[in-house]
Amino acid sequence: MAGRIPQSFIDDLIARADIIDVVGARVPLKKRGKEYIACCPFHNEKTPSFTVNQSKQFYHCFGCGAHGTALGFVMEFDRLEFVDAVESLAATYHLEVPREQGETKPDDRGPLYELLNQAADAYRAELKNSPRAVQYLKGRGLSGDVAKTFSLGYAPDSWDFLSQTLISSPHPHPPSSRDDGSPSTTVPDVALPPASMQSSPGTGEGKSVSLRDLQISLLRAGMLIEKTAGKFYDRFRDRIMFPIRDRRGRIIGFGGRILDKGEPKYLNSPETPLFHKGQELYGLYEAQQASHKLTRIMVVEGYMDVVALAQHGITYAVATLGTATSSEQISRIFRVVPEVIFCFDGDRAGRAAAWKALENTLPVLSDGVQARFLFLPDTEDPDSLVRKEGREAFEQRLLTAQPLSDFLLDHLASQTDMSSMDGRARLAELARPLIGKLGEGVFRELLSAQLAQRVGLSLPAMQQHLPAAPPPQQQLHPERAQRPVKQQQPSRHQVQVTPLRLAIALLLQHPQLAQQQALPAQLAQSTIPGIELLFSLHQVILQTENVSSSALIERWRDSPEQDALQKLLGWDIPDSADKAQRDRLFSDALNKLALHHTQSRFEQLLEKSHLSGLSAEEKAELRRLSSLTNTQK
Ligand code: UTP
Ligand code: MN
Repeated sequence: MAGRIPQSFIDDLIARADIIDVVGARVPLKKRGKEYIACCPFHNEKTPSFTVNQSKQFYHCFGCGAHGTALGFVMEFDRLEFVDAVESLAATYHLEVPREQGETKPDDRGPLYELLNQAADAYRAELKNSPRAVQYLKGRGLSGDVAKTFSLGYAPDSWDFLSQTLISSPHPHPPSSRDDGSPSTTVPDVALPPASMQSSPGTGEGKSVSLRDLQISLLRAGMLIEKTAGKFYDRFRDRIMFPIRDRRGRIIGFGGRILDKGEPKYLNSPETPLFHKGQELYGLYEAQQASHKLTRIMVVEGYMDVVALAQHGITYAVATLGTATSSEQISRIFRVVPEVIFCFDGDRAGRAAAWKALENTLPVLSDGVQARFLFLPDTEDPDSLVRKEGREAFEQRLLTAQPLSDFLLDHLASQTDMSSMDGRARLAELARPLIGKLGEGVFRELLSAQLAQRVGLSLPAMQQHLPAAPPPQQQLHPERAQRPVKQQQPSRHQVQVTPLRLAIALLLQHPQLAQQQALPAQLAQSTIPGIELLFSLHQVILQTENVSSSALIERWRDSPEQDALQKLLGWDIPDSADKAQRDRLFSDALNKLALHHTQSRFEQLLEKSHLSGLSAEEKAELRRLSSLTNTQK
C-alpha cells in the first residue's frame, strides 16, 4: 500500500478546486441568482433541481437529495473511491499527490497489473488466430463487438504460451524503471519482479535469468502453476478467457472456460496480491462504462450470463466469481446504484444462493436502496433465456422480481405451518435474528409491520419481541453509500433545529467563528449526544489555518458523522449571512447548550443528594450551579 495522503494536501486541493469548475466540467451549469443550476446528473429529470453553491462549495439536488463537496461530486460522478478521486482532481491541477512516509511498504503491484494487461492482449490476439475459439463464441451468439467490450480472448493449448509470448513481445521500456547494471534483455522492465525477488547476480545470465524473472512475476500474478521447484506451466490452456477488471478498469485476474466438455468447466485466477475473489464483481466496470446513469444492477451467476445479456442490450449485469455474494460486493453495488436485482436459477441451488445473498444484503441495506429477487424457470439461466426471448421479455421479468421483504417472509413461512399459532410464533422467531441485522430506518419498520401482520400481532406488540437496531458504527459498512434515490425523500433533508445542530452548522458554514468564540468550558463535561463533534470541529478549525467548509467536511468522510455534517452544511440558516447576526446566533446557541448542561447537572446532583448524599466538592458545585441556574433562567 502507498502511504497516506497528507491531510494538508487534501485541504489545499479542496481550496484550489472550485466546485463550479469541477461540476461545470462534467455537467453544463447555468447561473441563477447566487447559485448555479443544472438537471441532476444522478437522477432523470426535465426541470433542473440540482444546485451548486459557490460560497458553500457544495452541491445539492432538491429532487433526489444527492449532495456533497467537489471531491464528493468527483467520487459520485466519476464513480471513484476517495483516493482515486483525490488523484483525479489533483491531476486536473497538475499536482502530484504526496504520500506520507510510514511503515507502509511500497506498492510493488504495478508491474503485475502491466503483466496481466499484456497477457490479456496476447489472449486477444490469439483469439483472432483460432477459428475454433471464434466459432465457439459465435455459436454462443456473441458478436465481435461484445467480445471486444469484454476483451475476450483465447488461451491456446500450450504449456508455456504466456512466458514465450511475453518474453519476446516488443514493449516500450519506461525509462524510470530501468535498472542500470542489469543484463540487456528483451523482457519488458515492467514485468520484472521487485528487487527482492530477483535472482542474485551471477546465478545465470542473459535470457535465462530474464525468463525466470518473468515466470516468477507470472506466478505471483496467478497465471502460472509451479509444478516442481523452478518448473512452471500455464494455468489457462485451451480456454476462452474473460479478463476480470477492478473498479478502475485494471485487469486483476481471469476466468477461463473450456471450449469442449471437460473439467473444470471454468477456471479462475487464484487469490493474488491483485485479485480477491470475494470482493470483485465481473462486469461492474464494463457496466459503468456502458452507462453514466445506471439506476440498477442485476447480479447473475456466470461470466457468460453477463456477456450474453450485454449482447442483448442489458448492460447492467454483473457476476460474482463462483462464490456467494458477499456484503462487500453488495455494498459496492449500492455505492453505484440504489437498486440491486439478484437473478438466480429457480432450482434448489439457485434459491440457496439467493438466500445467502439476502443474508449478506441485510447489514448493508439503508433507506433509499432496495434489493429484489428474480427466480428463473427451471433449466434456464440468463444467457439461455435472453437468447430465447430477447431483451424486452427479459426486462419484463425484472418487473416481477420479488422485493427482499417478500422473499424473506415467504421463505421463512414455507418452513413453518402458518395455519397454527405455534407456526406463526415460529415465524417470528426465525425472522428475529434477520431483522436484528438491519439498521434503524424505514425499511426495518416496514419489515416489522409485515411480519406483525403475518404473525397476527399489532406492530407495537411485535416490536417488543424484536431486537434493537445496531448502532451505525457496528454495522458492517458504516461508509456505505447514502445513495440518491429517485423518489422524494423529505425525511432525509429535514433536520430538527436544536442548539447543538445550530452551533455545529454555523461553525461548519463559517469556520472563522471558532477564532472569535471559545466553547464554554463546562460543556466539556456535558453528555449531550453529539457534543464531541462540536468540540472536535472547533479544534480542527483552530489547528488548520483558513480551513474551508468543504475541506472540513472531508475530514469526516466515511465516518458515522459524515451524513449529519453534510446535511448541516446544506442548511440554509436564516439571517446567518450577516456577520453580527451570525455571531449572535452562535453565542445564543452556545449559551443554550451551557444552560442545558448546567440544568441537567444540577438535577443530577440534586437527585444524588436525596439518594446517597453528596461529597463536599459536589455540595459546593451544587451551590454554584444553583446560583447559576437562577441567574440564567
Ligand atoms: P455455471 O456452470 O452456471 O456457468 O457457473 P454458466 O455461466 O452457465 O456457464 P456456461 O453457460 O455453461 O458457459 C456459473 C459460474 O460459476 C463459476 C463461474 O464463475 C461461472 O461463471 N464456476 C462454474 C466455476 O468457477 N467453476 C466451474 O467449474 C463452474
Ligand atoms: Mn449458462
